[in-house]
Amino acid sequence: MRILIIGGGGREHAMAWAIAKSPQLEKLFIAPGNAGTAQLGCNVPIGVEDFGAMKKLVLDEAIELVLVGPEVPLVAGVVDYFKADAELKEIAVIGPSKAGAELEGSKDFAKVFMKDYDIPTGEFMTFIDYTLAEGYYFLSQMKPPYVLKADGLAAGKGVLIIDDLEEAKKELHSMLHGKFGKASTRVVIEEHLAGIELSVFVLTDGEGYVIFPEAKDYKRIGEGDTGLNTGGMGAISPVPFADEKFLKKVEDRVVKPTIKGLKAEGIDYKGFIFIGLMNKGGDPYVIEYNVRMGDPESEVVLPRIKTDFVEILKATAENRLKDLKIEFDERSVTTIMMVSGGYPGSYEKGKEIKGLENVDGSIVFHAGTKANDGKVLTHGGRVLAISSFGKDMKEALAKSYKNAEKIQFEDKYYRRDIGFDL
Ligand code: AMP
Ligand code: GLY
Repeated sequence: MRILIIGGGGREHAMAWAIAKSPQLEKLFIAPGNAGTAQLGCNVPIGVEDFGAMKKLVLDEAIELVLVGPEVPLVAGVVDYFKADAELKEIAVIGPSKAGAELEGSKDFAKVFMKDYDIPTGEFMTFIDYTLAEGYYFLSQMKPPYVLKADGLAAGKGVLIIDDLEEAKKELHSMLHGKFGKASTRVVIEEHLAGIELSVFVLTDGEGYVIFPEAKDYKRIGEGDTGLNTGGMGAISPVPFADEKFLKKVEDRVVKPTIKGLKAEGIDYKGFIFIGLMNKGGDPYVIEYNVRMGDPESEVVLPRIKTDFVEILKATAENRLKDLKIEFDERSVTTIMMVSGGYPGSYEKGKEIKGLENVDGSIVFHAGTKANDGKVLTHGGRVLAISSFGKDMKEALAKSYKNAEKIQFEDKYYRRDIGFDL
């Protein structure tokens, strides 16, 4: 099969790695890809929103299946673009329609959907500039900490959690007045959920679904979960506290009603649903939906899938997920994200990465890297994800850390406490 992956981060390298293992793969393309994906397929310099260039590539290269990695092209309607085009409509595209992508593209849409289908989540209300005064009143009626979310996509930065009421009011005002541009013309204020977070990943063809192994990521830049939010500094799977009983509750209370709700709304959804959950006293509450796999969660979840990943994607395209049996690796997988000094603030790119050849017993997934003249250079904030298997989390982490030490680039940084709270 001829396959195209859209995206160029660690998640897409992990997807490329899973696809490249399949005997069903004929040729793999990644747009735009990175230095890691270049070793598994053909990188094509196309931006994730350049649908016209994607069409040309798909037709020129007789691509049969497209796997969309990031949320931006999904929210921009890449799936609808393919379905509406006479020459592309037979191509299998794994990703939700634009309407389905609203589960991530609009926090208000997602919260209303959860309420409509009785999916457990915190209380909320949504405000616009015109209803600012009501927003102040709503805040004053809530207990701290106050959770304020930009309605639209804000590259993971649109969520503020604030202890002080006056500060929360100020932030509400500033969000509604352009703090996150168009993304915060609507702001969702929601109940703060206390508990321990984890994520569950579902792949659906609109009817049937499979639940992939759960994962937990570490979002803050600093050790002990301190400092600014990042895209994710490390992840583990499985999550020790997510026992069978808890995961059954997730399936019954969250996954099933979500699939049912999408169907009832007439939303075309063939793709991943990433469910961000809070475990509150043994019960799952949804914090958010994402309409794609996570990053760095993909770097721990995909290595645990033993079933042919191309077969899983084909079954999704052909509505066969209901009958597909998926096998998982029982071992633990952990990943450590190595980042550029300064991230998630400003950082420099173009630093040479050395020592990759010394890595032993881990899989190095590239995130922000670029191949140049036979060298591998840093090309983003998150640079490399070092994933390892182990009989338990501790053993896997020890391997990831041992190999992270062997890799050098100027100002490299990584958290040394992934899994500290488990
Ligand atoms: P989100 O972008 O919605 O994932 O939010 C970013 C992070 O903020 C989440 O991963 C949580 O750690 C935290 N968060 C978001 N919403 C809530 C909430 N209602 N209660 C507690 N923490 C939250
Ligand atoms: N690691 C969080 C995300 O992919 O959204």
